[in-house]
Amino acid sequence: MFVAKPSAASSKRERYRELHAQLASLLAGETDGLANAANMAALYFDALPELNWFGFYFLRGAELVLGPFQGKVACVRIAFGRGVCGTAAAERRTLIVPDVEQFPGHIACDAGSRSEIVVPIVRRGEVVAVLDLDSYELAAFDDADAAGLAPIAELVGTLAW
Ligand code: SME
Repeated sequence: MFVAKPSAASSKRERYRELHAQLASLLAGETDGLANAANMAALYFDALPELNWFGFYFLRGAELVLGPFQGKVACVRIAFGRGVCGTAAAERRTLIVPDVEQFPGHIACDAGSRSEIVVPIVRRGEVVAVLDLDSYELAAFDDADAAGLAPIAELVGTLAW
């Protein structure tokens, strides 16, 4: 399937808006949450050149367990409340980490990662997963990323997997 890349000149917000529209058409008519999460990872990883990793961790009991992703192999299990992912899940808020070395307890799946954003995915008021994006660049993520990712986190919250 052909997916057009947003032009380099697009602002982050515009880029996320275009991606969200592409995502809506990608998911249209498909109800399998796992397949949809896998295609979402491929779509965003391919379109956001600053990323070295894009993926999901699903809450299973007291742990987050690796879901569909794009990038290098990653840690499979993260305790709730640990690392950037577990902290975002426990605090139920998006965490933007400009320099992972400054985040106490950061879990380095890829030693080259320099910055990270983690967005909780909530279903019926409960955190069920997180969306994790990593970059080899320092401070790659800001409020525009948080705002651009919020609607897809909301969408994922509605999917079954
Ligand atoms: N850095 C994350 C672990 C997941 S990997 O980045 C893919 C964390 O501290 O929770």
